Amino acid sequence: MNRSKIEPSDFVVAPDRIWNKSWFLLTCGDFESGKFNTMTVAWGSMGVMWFKPFVQVVVRPTRYTYEFMEQYETFTLSAFGDEHRKALQFMGSHSGRDTNKVAETGLTPVASSSVSAPGYDEAELIIECRKIYWQDMDPSQFVDPSIEQYYPEKDYHRIYFGQILGVQGTEQYR
Ligand SMILES: Cc1cc2nc3c(=O)[nH]c(=O)nc-3n(C[C@H](O)[C@H](O)[C@H](O)COP(=O)(O)O)c2cc1C
Repeated sequence: MNRSKIEPSDFVVAPDRIWNKSWFLLTCGDFESGKFNTMTVAWGSMGVMWFKPFVQVVVRPTRYTYEFMEQYETFTLSAFGDEHRKALQFMGSHSGRDTNKVAETGLTPVASSSVSAPGYDEAELIIECRKIYWQDMDPSQFVDPSIEQYYPEKDYHRIYFGQILGVQGTEQYR
């Protein structure tokens, strides 16, 4: 894919479209050693905190990816065109604990420029992040009680903030 470096200040994205409709692959771990895992995410945000551009991702403790998020300092978010929808569905419905999701989807992990977690060559957009904060979701603070419906197993998300260290994208993200 024809991506080039985009400065965080020039990075343009429609949040609802990319999170809710397009989705991301969240990849955490280390490319060089081959120890990384990927899952699909559709809930999260982007913004500025402590003067740093950041993304927020939420990961349930039941996910295999959670173990990587705890162990490793960096992660990436990769966004794709519609032609890769099936791969994102697969990554979001199978676990890396018992499936080689990279082999099954045929996606190509690639080294990042500023973090050890890889992105994917087929992606239109790769956001490279370093963990700077985490917090467990506290159900006692659900002001809107309807939120509880998303946690029948009480597996409340762990929230991670990642400082954006690099963005590579196609021209539509500039
Ligand atoms: C569209 C979509 C969005 C998802 N978003 C999230 C999310 O934001 N957080 C989360 O913990 N799981 C999310 N999931 C579920 C994980 O991707 C799924 O459980 C995956 O199989 C976990 O893989 P792993 O065990 O290899 O980590 C989503 C799944 C789909 C299909």
